[in-house]
Amino acid sequence: MHLTERINRIQASPTAAVIAEAEKLKLRGVDVADFGPGEPDFPTPDHIKKAAIKAIEENKTKYTATPGIMPLREAICAWHKRELGSNYEPKECVVNVGGKHAIFNAVSVLIEHGDEVLIPAPYWVSFPDIVKYAGGTPVYVATTPEDGFAVKASAIEKAITPKTRLLILNSPSNPAGGVVPPEEFERILAVCKKHNIWLMGDECYSHFVYAPHKPYSIASAKDSKANVIIVGSVSKTFAMTGWRIGYTLAPEAVVAASNKLQSQSTSNPTSIAQYAALAAMTGPMDAVPPMLAEYEKRRKRIVEGLRNIPGVTCEWPGGAFYAFPNISSFLTNGPNGHALAKNCTELSRQLLDRAQVAVVPGEAFGAPGYLRLSYATSIERIDEGLRRLEKFFTRVEAAV
Ligand SMILES: Cc1ncc(COP(=O)(O)O)c(C=O)c1O
Repeated sequence: MHLTERINRIQASPTAAVIAEAEKLKLRGVDVADFGPGEPDFPTPDHIKKAAIKAIEENKTKYTATPGIMPLREAICAWHKRELGSNYEPKECVVNVGGKHAIFNAVSVLIEHGDEVLIPAPYWVSFPDIVKYAGGTPVYVATTPEDGFAVKASAIEKAITPKTRLLILNSPSNPAGGVVPPEEFERILAVCKKHNIWLMGDECYSHFVYAPHKPYSIASAKDSKANVIIVGSVSKTFAMTGWRIGYTLAPEAVVAASNKLQSQSTSNPTSIAQYAALAAMTGPMDAVPPMLAEYEKRRKRIVEGLRNIPGVTCEWPGGAFYAFPNISSFLTNGPNGHALAKNCTELSRQLLDRAQVAVVPGEAFGAPGYLRLSYATSIERIDEGLRRLEKFFTRVEAAV
């Protein structure tokens, strides 16, 4: 069958593949310690669910304006101003079908064939494929564990060429929890301005940062608007992954173009979900601090547990809800003196088959030698998973 060159340029999301494998085992009754899913395990807060039910009862179940209902666009601008210090108007805001869709649309309207897009690595799995689908070329900028996986302005500047059009900067980051401090973010903005390139801030995890970090948006910086595109989402902050509501805040022309693309593809995001998001953005934020406190407890448990396994190193993630241990020593020298596997993809497969632990291999994020473990799961499951991991990595007979 002929499929387009365009679709053959990309691959299915590797995180989705791991989740599907783990789900298959669970369906067969296997008890999987599942560190795969990148989504909160908390329920959507009640007042948000009630707003959706009310919207259904009031028959708000029809098409809406393509960029979203005006009260929601106003609420997103007001929420972003209050929480993150920006200054956008509804004409600079479009509601999308999740943060991923916001990124997809923005990249589609800005990137031409041959354009280069800077992506700090380790990176979220979807960035490179979204760029490739648009015809662009991802250019990876390495970050280091010593710097907490937070990219530096100097590294960005070195990677810029005459073809560079955009930098996608996700802070706090998935998968490594890297948080770019405000001063460095401003230096990065200055570099982008100097070279006339766009800075896209992916703020999906904005409210899940651990002290001393605080929620921060580059849109709060002086004179940032002309070069900045903000993409955000209610998915993580309000435990609303399934509702599929994200947003773009950007100069009017970019928003209008994203809206045009949306008008010929998805149309408006689901009306009912928009009313739920409106309740999220205008209602109390009191579900967020308990979630953050719980993530912080789990972060401590999992990072300390991983560090206790000989041969594993693990940094403290500054934000989001992923631990990102380095297990590269096992790829050269396992407990019986041989490599456990040739790469992390193979190792993750073994972990699932032999220890019933689901993790995402670092190769998916451009970080061979690492594994991503989501700690959006209970302390009990974290402890169970750690027991299995320790056994796997220390027992000689586990080696191939
Ligand atoms: C870094 C990052 N950006 C964007 C998204 C998109 O989230 P959603 O499409 O659910 O808003 C995710 C989801 O995992 C993510 O990890």
